[in-house]
Amino acid sequence: MLSAGFACLAACTQTGNKGTTDAVATTDSASCAQPADNINPNGTSELAALMRDMFARSEEWKKAIENGQDLGIYPVAFDKLKTAKPTDEHMKNETFDPFADDFIRRTKDLLSAAPEKRKEAFTTYTEGCLNCHTTMCPGPVKRIKLLKIE
Ligand code: HEC
Repeated sequence: MLSAGFACLAACTQTGNKGTTDAVATTDSASCAQPADNINPNGTSELAALMRDMFARSEEWKKAIENGQDLGIYPVAFDKLKTAKPTDEHMKNETFDPFADDFIRRTKDLLSAAPEKRKEAFTTYTEGCLNCHTTMCPGPVKRIKLLKIE
């Protein structure tokens, strides 16, 4: 169990430096979950699956903002952020919950923002992803930065 945790933490810190940019851009798993997937008979963790969903929603919201469309309602799945099982339970330490609460608040702010404030609110929202990731799991940081609206 412990070795799985260390493998994953190592993957979190190293992914930015190794592998091709393609791998970083196309596979979420290049970040935290993949090395653990290989050892974990249960496959993708609940938290990693939620993250993929969050990433996909973020891409949809980015497109909607660029096209002047509405963002829709709050995805209740996001409420599982604090309870979803991670690849390695050590990822959920006392640092995680405050970042999670802050991120949920930013999500709700984004969804209630007036149309002309959405771009700004989206930046604040993705900063919520990045705050947690730079501290806890740097692997996906590059990929999350691609969400930026120019
Ligand atoms: C409160 C902390 C936190 C926040 C906020 C957060 N993440 Fe994550 N993220 C994690 C952790 C921890 C993992 C590793 C999950 C695992 O392996 O079980 C992860 C994993 C990921 C992954 C890799 C999933 C995979 O396939 O392995 C992606 C992509 C990702 N996050 C994107 C995002 C995006 C986009 C946002 C904002 C919309 C976000 N994250 C917000 C903590 C966070």
